[in-house]
Amino acid sequence: APAALDASKLVIHKTSTPKEKLPNEKLVFGRSFTDHMLTIPWNRTAGWGTPVIKPYAPLTLDPSAVVFHYAFELFEGLKAYRDPKGQIRMFRPDKNMIRMNKSADRICLPTFENEELITLIGELLKVDSSFIPSERGYSLYIRPTMIGTTPGLGVHTPDDALLYVICSPVGPYYSTGFKAVRLEATDYAVRAWPGGVGDKKLGANYAPSVKPQLEAAKRGYQQNLWLFGPEKHVTEVGTMNFFIAFKDSNGVKELVTAPLDGMILEGVTRDSILALCREKLDKKEWKVNERYCSISEIEERAKKGEVVEAFGSGTAAVVSPVKEIGYNSEHISIPILPGEEAGALTKQIAEWIAQRQYGIVESDWSRIV
Ligand code: COI
Repeated sequence: APAALDASKLVIHKTSTPKEKLPNEKLVFGRSFTDHMLTIPWNRTAGWGTPVIKPYAPLTLDPSAVVFHYAFELFEGLKAYRDPKGQIRMFRPDKNMIRMNKSADRICLPTFENEELITLIGELLKVDSSFIPSERGYSLYIRPTMIGTTPGLGVHTPDDALLYVICSPVGPYYSTGFKAVRLEATDYAVRAWPGGVGDKKLGANYAPSVKPQLEAAKRGYQQNLWLFGPEKHVTEVGTMNFFIAFKDSNGVKELVTAPLDGMILEGVTRDSILALCREKLDKKEWKVNERYCSISEIEERAKKGEVVEAFGSGTAAVVSPVKEIGYNSEHISIPILPGEEAGALTKQIAEWIAQRQYGIVESDWSRIV
């Protein structure tokens, strides 16, 4: 039988030329990488091969490899943090492994044992631990990736794959830091559709997302807002999940995000926010709902003063506050107090999550390496 992924077979080759480390303030998201990478080959007959941690270096692939032609590629994004005791902690890696296996299954790439890959990533973190920043706002972004490497232009199930993991020390995702952004609602393109792959973390979902963002940028917006269907439901913002908070005429507040209907990326930060808000917000004051919300609901309720806050959520930026939505030459503004960059709930959520990521509040979500 093909071999299962086995972390105990790990082989480590350390670099003889360690890199110069950048000071935190020079870090640009995903531009610099640690000294090492983890690679694990897979073959249909042999199964998972020997996991190797070796110096970060280019890959050599046949130009006809299926990854280059038919997008047999998927990725994940998770982070490691340094806690006040100097220990390394990964945030909810089990969620990323579950999602990675779902993505792999959807494009006929091999699945694997979640815990084995978490162990191997832990070993990579130990080897490259000197790259993990300790300051608040900084972390190590981990990028597990899987590609189909079989040469040949036939469109069929890959017989060979490569799973690899690279790591990048990062600060804030946006160079502007924690700043409220303006969004342009995109009405000429959709990110995902029923029966499609919008809920999978496939590279193929991301390349087509850049043009609408560029179009929005031409008109002075930092990101685009994805709508779907005749009702123009708000689905996601740029590469992030979307949250909006309303307050009705009775003063009851509602936090809303789109339901996981197959079109929405199953964000780990999204899930963490829903869980924290359901646990911590006063139930007399707040409702937390996964439901459809149309751009016209936002437009109408903004006119009545019922829109309280809005933000995007993702691993890279964690939460990204929104101050305005441009839609059909209308400007829907989301109130933020003068001198502030985010509303009270957005800031509270960012703090709840950071406390668990940095191991300031103990939680099952934080896994010590
Ligand atoms: C996110 O973490 O928000 C992402 O979607 C990853 C991004 C860098 C593609």
